[in-house]
Amino acid sequence: MSKKINRIVFATQKGGVGKSTMATMLASYMYFRQNHQVVVIDADHPQHSIKKLRNREMESLKEDEDQQRAFMKSGREQVYPIANSKMVDVFQRPSPDQPSTYEKASLPAIGADTIIIDTPGSVAIEGLGTILENVDHVIVPLEPEEMSLISSSEFLAALSRMKAVKERGVKPIAFWNKVRQGSHQELIDVQNEVFRAAGIHVLENHVPYSVKMKRNETRSTIFPVNFSAIDLNDFMNELYSVVQ
Ligand SMILES: Nc1ncnc2c1ncn2[C@@H]1O[C@H](COP(=O)(O)OP(=O)(O)OP(=O)(O)O)[C@@H](O)[C@H]1O
Ligand SMILES: [Mg+2]
Repeated sequence: MSKKINRIVFATQKGGVGKSTMATMLASYMYFRQNHQVVVIDADHPQHSIKKLRNREMESLKEDEDQQRAFMKSGREQVYPIANSKMVDVFQRPSPDQPSTYEKASLPAIGADTIIIDTPGSVAIEGLGTILENVDHVIVPLEPEEMSLISSSEFLAALSRMKAVKERGVKPIAFWNKVRQGSHQELIDVQNEVFRAAGIHVLENHVPYSVKMKRNETRSTIFPVNFSAIDLNDFMNELYSVVQ
């Protein structure tokens, strides 16, 4: 019997809120810190920003012996796979004789126990419904900014109403990203009450706004992310505790 694979998706119709960034962070945390066999499905077609980052990192790894030595010390012998996919192909077969991206990623030879899916920042994307019907966890980043919140709230409300999500007991997980110290607290408190009353699990810890994250200095798909350097240890521990 095949073992159960934990299927996690980062989704929201709002663009630029941190789906790809935090999908990469969670992949790093689960792969390097918790020793999971992670596969990332980059379904943000045609941008594929995570896969492009991997390609750039592999190029520079090939040319740099210091990096190769550092990689050997990371504790893992290989990099986790990243599969590009169109949204519609993640769980659906492109044709009866072609496997879906998920089917390929869950082959025994790959040995995945966790599949993390990144999606584009638009709700009008064909295939999102099927993805939401097939995952164990839906993670929704929120920005503490009024206009951004309107569209995120719509998405969360639609998600909580979805029969396929409710019936399988999937509770949407939301978290606050780009939080500047000392600001937004009132907005966050008020919104948290609304979201929690609607059955959404809002994480207690926030992701602070960080220049290092803005510059993508901390994002890596081949090296363990230094979560202490961006003050993310507590956040990652909490996120992991709800999705593991
Ligand atoms: N906590 C943070 N502090 C500062 N910048 C951040 C933070 N999180 C994300 N960013 C920046 O915000 C931008 C958008 O992030 P990201 O690409 O992860 O969003 P997204 O939701 O995947 O966007 P899209 O919908 O376009 O795919 C990036 O430049 C990223 O570096
Ligand atoms: Mg993205």
